[in-house]
Amino acid sequence: MSEHFRICGGARLTGEVQVVGAKNSVLKLMAAALLAEGTTTLTNCPEILDVPLMADVLRGLGCDVEVAGSKVSIVTPAEPKYEADYGSVSKLRASVCVLGPLLGRCRRAKVALPGGDAIGSRPLDMHQNGLRKLGARSEIEHGCVVAEAEGLHGAQIWLDFPSVGATENILMAAVLAEGTTVIDNAAREPEIVDLCVMLKQMGARISGEGTSTLTVDGVDALSPTEHRVIGDRIVGATWAFAAAMTRGDVTVRGVNPHHLDLVLEKLRLAGAQVDLSWPDAFRVVMPGRPTAVDFVTLPYPGFATDLQPMAIALSAIAEGTSMITENVFEARFRFVEEMIRLGADARTDGHHAVIRGVERLSSAPVWASDIRAGAGLVLAGLCAEGATDVWDVFHIDRGYPRFLENLAALGADVRRVTAAPER
Ligand code: UD1
Repeated sequence: MSEHFRICGGARLTGEVQVVGAKNSVLKLMAAALLAEGTTTLTNCPEILDVPLMADVLRGLGCDVEVAGSKVSIVTPAEPKYEADYGSVSKLRASVCVLGPLLGRCRRAKVALPGGDAIGSRPLDMHQNGLRKLGARSEIEHGCVVAEAEGLHGAQIWLDFPSVGATENILMAAVLAEGTTVIDNAAREPEIVDLCVMLKQMGARISGEGTSTLTVDGVDALSPTEHRVIGDRIVGATWAFAAAMTRGDVTVRGVNPHHLDLVLEKLRLAGAQVDLSWPDAFRVVMPGRPTAVDFVTLPYPGFATDLQPMAIALSAIAEGTSMITENVFEARFRFVEEMIRLGADARTDGHHAVIRGVERLSSAPVWASDIRAGAGLVLAGLCAEGATDVWDVFHIDRGYPRFLENLAALGADVRRVTAAPER
């Protein structure tokens, strides 16, 4: 038996929705707790499966972890274990972010490689090269990434690409290295800034967060802290697209709208009215059918690759033709096949997808291949005639807390069904 979401299309979404902490931030902040002995507390954590999975990874490293609703408390021992085994890591790709903190704290780390991913290959070469620059040996051995060092020293590191994960791992090792590290072409995502804010509260000396040059002056030890996780801009943007696609009127709370400057500008170009009167909220009103706009995914502040499925879903029902260019994860266009099942007029060629908008999609059974593809299919289902069943919804549950409840509160006709798949 498995679960699916049944979405009866046609409703116009209206009302308010509250967004909580970002998945892509909380997991790294939990890993950062390894850097200091004692109790680190995180609030505004999303209640999604990835949080207890990360808690298991940390327990395997010797931490005591309590997950109580939106609060996570992590007690890190004086000497954490340095091996994260396949059993816990395989369930959560992001757990590779314990590599940097373990190397910083224990001077050695062994983290099982989690394996393939539906959105494309995710190598660790930039993570390893950065750690090597800090003085570590790092190899892939028997299915694990291993890093060890006698002592870590500051270094000048140039990343080939502003990788989020590599920036985080190098940063979390560098905060406890001797001397100054400069990471050039660093990722600038708001989640990196959030990590820097927490590390600085713990006593780390970092400057340049939010720019492409991060400078870290290593310190001997860090102290535990309490930190509120930044609001999830990807979830917030998903609601913005949902409002635009259903010609709705939705106020999204709990997200800094400036983290979505480009996204909201794109929705404006598509015809939405966007109200930015609040520091931690915004309102999207769509008076008619969206107009086609082009999207190009790039590292922040570019248009997030995680929102590419939402961009395709919007384009599928927009008036006109859109070109979507994917520059970050090569396999993300698999999602387009499912959109075609829903009646989208779409074709892909390499990094590009061309979508000719249709008036209305038509319901079909579709399969979510990852978190964001799943959310994109639900949004498409909201604009499809009839009842759309989205299968493999465990992906969506990993990234969107109370997704169906929130959709229903905004007026969507959605429910969770437990049944055998019809594939
Ligand atoms: C993070 C996010 C993910 C988001 C992505 C890009 C988490 C848990 N996940 O993933 O939701 O889609 O950022 O914004 O935070 N690469 C290499 N070598 C490396 C590292 C990366 O070639 O050593 C490549 C990847 O294959 C990919 C690109 O760089 O093509 C970007 O990856 P990266 O920014 O590292 O993404 P993640 O940190 O894995």
